[in-house]
Amino acid sequence: MRKITVAVDGPSGSGKSSVSKETARRLGAAYLDTGAMYRAVTWHALDAGTDLSDAEAVAAAVKAADLFISTDPDVERITIHGTDVTEAIREPFVSEAVSAVATNLAARAELVARQRAIIAAHERIVAEGRDITTVVAPDADARILLTASEEARLRRRGLQLGGTQSDAELQAQVLVRDAKDSTVVDFHVAADGVATVDSSEMDFEQTVTAVLEAIKA
Ligand code: CDP
Repeated sequence: MRKITVAVDGPSGSGKSSVSKETARRLGAAYLDTGAMYRAVTWHALDAGTDLSDAEAVAAAVKAADLFISTDPDVERITIHGTDVTEAIREPFVSEAVSAVATNLAARAELVARQRAIIAAHERIVAEGRDITTVVAPDADARILLTASEEARLRRRGLQLGGTQSDAELQAQVLVRDAKDSTVVDFHVAADGVATVDSSEMDFEQTVTAVLEAIKA
């Protein structure tokens, strides 16, 4: 089987997780959700009472983190120091705090190194996040930026969260977090050599097809 690394980046609500996971299944590849790693270390820092405004403390907590993430697209599981946080990392309190860790450059360097090691350990893998096409795997065989209009992204995240959120809550979850994250990584504009797939007018199946086409191109 030909070795292949696929890098997918995109903003909140672009559909990158579900699309990347399905793309991995169809390629018979592993799947790496790098956002889940940022979320897990954030959950742990909060659980341990780490002051998220203390950059050194955050970096130290991330460096010491005993983190396991499943790379099987059919098994969603992430543990930190032995605690299964698969569900907990999706809670709003983690979403609200995660940018404080993601904008810490030492914490990023640590997670980027771990992500590169995971990618290198797999013959075939689809890795997704915010800086995979540019920082983690700029030499990937295929690099894709999955975008969608602000309206589409807010609608999708609302559906994902069960439709119970107000517009203001959704905007806080999606747009405010993206604005904070954008201060350290630019995931709105495709870097040189990165193919853009705009899913605003596409359903799930069409988006997966477009990503698979971009991989073949
Ligand atoms: O909820 P959403 O799919 O938008 O985000 P996620 O992929 O679960 O990522 C959660 C957070 O992790 C983002 O808001 C970023 O702060 C951070 N992240 C990052 O900085 N770099 C990555 N490669 C992936 C995620």
